[in-house]
Amino acid sequence: MATFQTLPGFREFYPEDFARRNHLFRLWRQTANNFGFAEYDAPVLEPLDLYKAKSGDEIEGQLFSFTDKGGREVALRPEMTPTVCRLVGARASALKRPIRWFSIAEFFRYERMQKGRGRCFFQFNADIFGEPGPEAEIELVALLVQCLCAFGLTEQDFYVRLSDRNLWFYYLEALGLDEARTRAVLGAVDRYEKYGDAAFADYTATFGPLDAALREKILAFLGIKSLGALEQAVAACGGGKLAARLADWRKLLGAMEAMGLAKFVTVDLGVVRGLAYYTGFVFEAFDRKGELRALAGGGRYDDLVQKLGGPALPAVGFAIGDMTFALLLEQRGLLPQFSQAPDVYCVIGGAAERLAAFGDIHALRAAGYRVDYPLKELAFGKQFKVAAESGAKLALIYGGDELARGVVKIRDLGLRTEIEAPRAQVVAHVRDFFSGS
Ligand code: HAM
Repeated sequence: MATFQTLPGFREFYPEDFARRNHLFRLWRQTANNFGFAEYDAPVLEPLDLYKAKSGDEIEGQLFSFTDKGGREVALRPEMTPTVCRLVGARASALKRPIRWFSIAEFFRYERMQKGRGRCFFQFNADIFGEPGPEAEIELVALLVQCLCAFGLTEQDFYVRLSDRNLWFYYLEALGLDEARTRAVLGAVDRYEKYGDAAFADYTATFGPLDAALREKILAFLGIKSLGALEQAVAACGGGKLAARLADWRKLLGAMEAMGLAKFVTVDLGVVRGLAYYTGFVFEAFDRKGELRALAGGGRYDDLVQKLGGPALPAVGFAIGDMTFALLLEQRGLLPQFSQAPDVYCVIGGAAERLAAFGDIHALRAAGYRVDYPLKELAFGKQFKVAAESGAKLALIYGGDELARGVVKIRDLGLRTEIEAPRAQVVAHVRDFFSGS
């Protein structure tokens, strides 16, 4: 018989995996609510054009795309950003500012498979629209940090590398590079950490070898890892637009300091982000040990809403992926044991006792308690064993003797104590027990 397996890179969620996934989603959702973000979602399948030339070559090459039965070219969403730009753009004038939205959704990219990377994965996306200044970045970097700290991670576990494509544009302009060369250099900077000097191969192939002095300046700028070093480099360039931009950097870093988050944030001009639409500040979160792929990435994309047919609307946001993140939590022992233990287990005598128990079982479940019982008749001894193994705090015992006297036994499975309660008061007793009175 043929056996069917999942497609490579696709995931199944058995209950324990699903519990873990819910744990991530629950804390992300709670954190986003605390920051005043509103949740949205959108279609999984989108017109292919939404991503063409907008997301960048890398994502375009990884699309799951096909022609549907109506002859439309479509793609499974590889990311949320173009979609959320369409949503916000369509209602921009009616939406209350600041527009702060988040979503938790599944994405698809035909990637080479490696640790922490799949072909389907979840992302928590958070974005702010309509705010051109670094006030939006302050909120988003703080939210990103808190989305990770909410699980017990600390500055010893992860950090956020902060960079700025504006600074790069101004700097390369000051060095005399035109826009095409600037983009090619940024592509090389993006790949430099991984490939070293070979990262400049594409540039060289198009524009010829990079002048040695220029190359040295670019590598020096790429190596900047502090505000002080950045200020020095800018001063050496003679100020201008570069110096004016530093005011935004001071505002952003000053706010991080005031929030107690400076320890999480590192200036790092080696980050420029591969996606095509970023325009200003960009940032990525990594584990401190440098063992895993990026945990999260984001930045400003002030032109995208308009490019997709909406009004001119500045925007900035980020996404955390679930796979690398779960790996990090696992490594640090921060994934709790997820228990399906009932609150109450009912031990039931025969058929008549079962009918009596059903009334209480349903009333307790309706009152919000997790109640379990053996679906088929079982010997008393066996039922007590199942009750103890189930992790329930209480056992309700429906024996023939008790019912003849109009009572039910309530056993505290932790303390091993037992009381009898009149049948009509069973739900009230259980409620008292769980409310600690
Ligand atoms: P991204 O850097 O492509 O940015 O993805 C963000 C995060 O999603 C990554 O850091 C990683 O954790 C996770 N991720 C990406 N691809 C995969 C994969 N194949 N398997 C597992 N995890 C993956 C974006 O997607 C931007 N749209 C983020 C953004 C929102 N920018 C502005 N707003």
